[in-house]
Amino acid sequence: MLRFYTAGESHGKGLIGMIEGIPSGLALSSEDIDFQLKTRQKGHGRGGRMKIESDRAEIISGVRWGVTTGAPISLFIENRDWANWNEAMSADAKFIGSAQPVTRPRPGHADLAGAQKFAQKDIRNILERSSARETAMRVALGAVARKFLDAFDIKIGSFVFQIGSAVMKSAADPASEKGLLNLSKKAGASDVRCPDEAAGNEMKSLIDEAALAGDTLGGKFTVFAIGAPPGLGSHTQWDRRLDGIMAQAMMSIQAIKCVEVGGGAGLAETPGSIIMDEIFYNAKRGFYRKTNNMGGFEGGMTNGMPLVVHATMKPIPTLKKPLRSVDMATKKPFKAAYERSDVCAVPAASVVAEAMTALVVSEALLEKMGGDSLDETRRNYDAYIRQIAQF
Ligand SMILES: Cc1cc2nc3c(=O)[nH]c(=O)nc-3n(C[C@H](O)[C@H](O)[C@H](O)COP(=O)(O)O)c2cc1C
Repeated sequence: MLRFYTAGESHGKGLIGMIEGIPSGLALSSEDIDFQLKTRQKGHGRGGRMKIESDRAEIISGVRWGVTTGAPISLFIENRDWANWNEAMSADAKFIGSAQPVTRPRPGHADLAGAQKFAQKDIRNILERSSARETAMRVALGAVARKFLDAFDIKIGSFVFQIGSAVMKSAADPASEKGLLNLSKKAGASDVRCPDEAAGNEMKSLIDEAALAGDTLGGKFTVFAIGAPPGLGSHTQWDRRLDGIMAQAMMSIQAIKCVEVGGGAGLAETPGSIIMDEIFYNAKRGFYRKTNNMGGFEGGMTNGMPLVVHATMKPIPTLKKPLRSVDMATKKPFKAAYERSDVCAVPAASVVAEAMTALVVSEALLEKMGGDSLDETRRNYDAYIRQIAQF
């Protein structure tokens, strides 16, 4: 079983994360993690904070001499801004009152509902944790999961295909492993993580226009996993269906408002005779499909095709353009306007989605294969692959 948690505030000392269940014997270094952290911080439309923070993960436990021991792996990412916040965010009661309480809830944030729920008069006690700063640790933990998946040649990738009204012209073929990997590779070279250069330039112009207008933009991205064997997840119980678990993982990312699996919403328009992924067989490949409209999931299980999921991110809710809200203390209306914030974080969200995909697929793989050491997991995996080949 694979479990993970994150903790930490946006302007606290740092973020901590723990992942338990990664088998022993996996080579892991902080460089493996830092590469992913860097990718999350890039992107046209990110705010000033990305210039302050240059994230690095410190491995605190679970790894000895570059190899996992099977013990819980814990990580720490320092918040570089901590020096400016160590009194305002201190755990020590002697600093009470060193920062003004925040009483003006921002529309589109956890501020008001969180303050009501946790009975907090100072919204800072909510916003510090609800901030997407937390996703840095998810990306770090996801990098550990990716390293584990590498051992089974399971690859994760993503690309942005829409920001505001700018849309990538050609749709990806969800059945083509090579095609998906190629799109993700091209996305890695783009400031907006869009593999289509013309669409990417349009996206950048829209982001610049939005920034000038004090506005923000949302968008859509695709995330995929290639190489997962058939039979991860299960049809036997509602909470074991892997497409459901994947959707929850995507929806758990701040500002994601819609998740589609495979053909998603578009499946409603096409008759079943056209859209189902028909089954073929030959001795070399075994059972296979020519299409992947179901996004690699049937009956809540992987079917051996690429796992393809699309997510929609709402526009960033913190704007320079004022939004109406009401002060919690005075009950008087005010207009919320902020300076430092992302204009568009869709590219970064796609990197977070890769991390969540890696974590979900790793958990499903470990649930199916078991194993406390990588060798044991591999033996079980190889035996299962043989079982499928002989089926
Ligand atoms: C990678 C990433 C970066 C984000 N950056 C910001 C930001 O700079 N400013 C902001 O207001 N919201 C940002 N958000 C979105 C908010 O965190 C999110 O909308 C808010 O916490 C409320 O959650 P909800 O939209 O899921 O309801 C970001 C989200 C992600 C995934």
